[in-house]
Amino acid sequence: MIVVLSVGGSSINGKGEPETAFLKSFAKIIKKSRHRIGILTGGGSIARIYANAARKLGAGEYEADAIAIASTKQNAQLMIAALAAEEIDVYKKVLDSFEEVKSVQNRVVVMGGTIPGITTDTDAVLLAEALGAARLVNVSNVEGIYDSNPKTSKNAKKYSSMGYDELIALATSSDQRKAGTHFVFDILACKLIARSAIEAHFVGNKIKEIENAIEGKKHKGTIVK
Ligand code: UTP
Repeated sequence: MIVVLSVGGSSINGKGEPETAFLKSFAKIIKKSRHRIGILTGGGSIARIYANAARKLGAGEYEADAIAIASTKQNAQLMIAALAAEEIDVYKKVLDSFEEVKSVQNRVVVMGGTIPGITTDTDAVLLAEALGAARLVNVSNVEGIYDSNPKTSKNAKKYSSMGYDELIALATSSDQRKAGTHFVFDILACKLIARSAIEAHFVGNKIKEIENAIEGKKHKGTIVK
């Protein structure tokens, strides 16, 4: 089976420092897995810091995005280092395009962002489409999809499963399209998983949860199908 993981920057460098302990444990579950795996890394705090600095200097949103993309790619290179340390069969270069993915035979491939105006959620779905993945696992600092923002509303309820249309409706109501700000899953990414009927699993960044989602076992997050 082919599985694509969208690993939010919040798990890789959420607080400024790269989360090396997380990357090490993450690499161990990728090592154990028998699936072919595509990994898309987000930018985290470093992307936001650089995008904001660019704006302060007068850059427009296109340039702010371009700088944030560089941060996602830096995280991708760090992910490759963690995977290579476990002697995983990973392609050692951060892929620049979805076309390039097709000519790579390694079990694991890693990408960061691609073009301004989208997010790594969308890149992850496009990677899933390019690889022909049937399952996508979204790893973030939120443990699933809630009916309202769990960080600001204490009555927020988590869905254990939901349909594509419900997800699209939730994402539509909170889309802003500004570098560094977005709903758990970008609206375009939601529409793309729907068009290709990719089963999407939304989990927090606890290693056991991520492993269960990759291996198709029960987890505490949300399944969208
Ligand atoms: P993300 O917002 O996808 O990373 O990319 P993230 O840090 O993982 O977000 P969380 O952790 O889910 O909150 C960071 C920024 O990089 C630019 C966008 O500005 C985006 O907000 N980006 C990323 C692009 O412009 N194009 C891409 O293909 C990817």
